[in-house]
Amino acid sequence: MIAPSLLSADFARLEAEIGWFNQSEADWLHLDVMDGVFVPNISFGFPVMKAVARLCQKPLDVHLMIVQPEKFIPEVKSLGAHIMNVHYEACTHLHRVVHQIREAGMSPGVTLNPATPVSVLEDIICDVDLVLLMSVNPGFGGQKFIPHTVEKVRQLRALIQKHGSNALIEIDGGVNLETGLQLRQAGADVLVAGSFIFHAADPIEACHLLRSL
Ligand code: DX5
Ligand code: ZN
Repeated sequence: MIAPSLLSADFARLEAEIGWFNQSEADWLHLDVMDGVFVPNISFGFPVMKAVARLCQKPLDVHLMIVQPEKFIPEVKSLGAHIMNVHYEACTHLHRVVHQIREAGMSPGVTLNPATPVSVLEDIICDVDLVLLMSVNPGFGGQKFIPHTVEKVRQLRALIQKHGSNALIEIDGGVNLETGLQLRQAGADVLVAGSFIFHAADPIEACHLLRSL
């Protein structure tokens, strides 16, 4: 599956961007929320996402790069989001947060920064529907892919099998046809792509190519 990241869209023409997205083969719309505290940047918040949710005809995959993400479970739910991703590094009580997300009726996802090893997921892997591995340091689109992520995908696939978990593996940052192929071959299920898709001359074709890997 593929999840185009709205962060790389032209915000002056959001309706048109979501228009082609709805017509494309893309599976989910990935929404990157930044607070200027957990990451050194601020993106967009709930008023913008509410407008986007009204236009979007596909599942929303919300990636919260914020401290205390549990505060916003009701707001994310009210968007109609399917997946709520919280960072492992932002949650002191990750188990509680994951279960609160599920009780709210959403799929919980846990996100790992590049320097966080997959092994920290041993005791939570059966409680989540998705693990999002960052293949760049979060905060900005258009960064260079960190090659070690491919090895982390293999490690995560092994961990998921060992525990009989159903978690999907999603990767975020620097995804293009070359890195996407490596990730697919290593066992990734969902590829997030911002600049590769939104900056392409033909974004619908870019979605098709990435999804066909
Ligand atoms: C980074 C965000 C990503 C970003 C990906 O902090 O989480 O979703 O938009 O952008 P590209 O694909 O351009 O690296
Ligand atoms: Zn993201």
